[in-house]
Amino acid sequence: MPDFTPSDRLATEHARRARSFGAAAADYADHRPDYPEAAVSFALAPVAARRPLRVLDLAAGTGKLTEQLLRAGLDVIAVEPDAAMRDELVGRLRGVVALPGSAEAIPLPDNRVDAVLVGQALHWFDLDRALPEIARVLTPGGVLAALWNLDDDRVDWVAEFAEIAGLGVRYSLRSGRSIPAHADFQEQELREFSHKQPRTAASLTATVGTHSPTLVRTPDEQQALLGRVRAYLEGNPATAGGEFELPLVTTVSRAVVGK
Ligand SMILES: C[S@@+](CC[C@H](N)C(=O)[O-])C[C@H]1O[C@@H](n2cnc3c(N)ncnc32)[C@H](O)[C@@H]1O
Repeated sequence: MPDFTPSDRLATEHARRARSFGAAAADYADHRPDYPEAAVSFALAPVAARRPLRVLDLAAGTGKLTEQLLRAGLDVIAVEPDAAMRDELVGRLRGVVALPGSAEAIPLPDNRVDAVLVGQALHWFDLDRALPEIARVLTPGGVLAALWNLDDDRVDWVAEFAEIAGLGVRYSLRSGRSIPAHADFQEQELREFSHKQPRTAASLTATVGTHSPTLVRTPDEQQALLGRVRAYLEGNPATAGGEFELPLVTTVSRAVVGK
């Protein structure tokens, strides 16, 4: 019988959550927010003048960020380990290059891209392995940028909602949402951007169903949780009357590769 320590259990839970997203791929694509254009511009600024500008969307999921990068006319490759997420991406963004792979084993040659963007996913990576791997595929002077959409829980109802929903992606828990210091990269630069997303009680409840703390629960637990979230949103004056705006803060950490 293996002897599991508390840190083994945490690592197992982390791995389960990292692999959980495919179970709700279509809802993810329908309900998760996009990123502000100013945040994407900040992410790419160190290499913005390059043409062609080759960008890797790493942990691309269903292609939220990929779509924005394609719209900007960039030369984009998506890499995503989860087949259900990747299928959703390919179904929505026909013709895009979407490769199976992970941050720890990127299926690209050395010096292949000018920027690596990571939306809402850097915290899932084994960074001791992923950061040298990202540095390997970047061209000299290339940039790594990690973006997170965080519910702005400085707003009272958002704090209450995030608590009931058990969400970790909230502004008050933003510390650690950044690129750690690493010998392969110059010092990170951090910037925050206001963002918002039009929602209804039904769509915000569906969004909660796409978050990993929800996805690793049993079906009965998920149903009970989503019932509590929906009841809160339908009973709260700020969110009960049809469409409302969910306030978000998008935080971006960018670091230029040291080579
Ligand atoms: C919250 S989703 C973000 C998806 C997308 N980037 C976005 O902005 O909507 C996290 C994604 O990270 C992927 N992921 C988890 N661990 C990973 C790893 N080690 N390497 C690459 N991707 C990983 C998951 O499969 C999932 O698609």
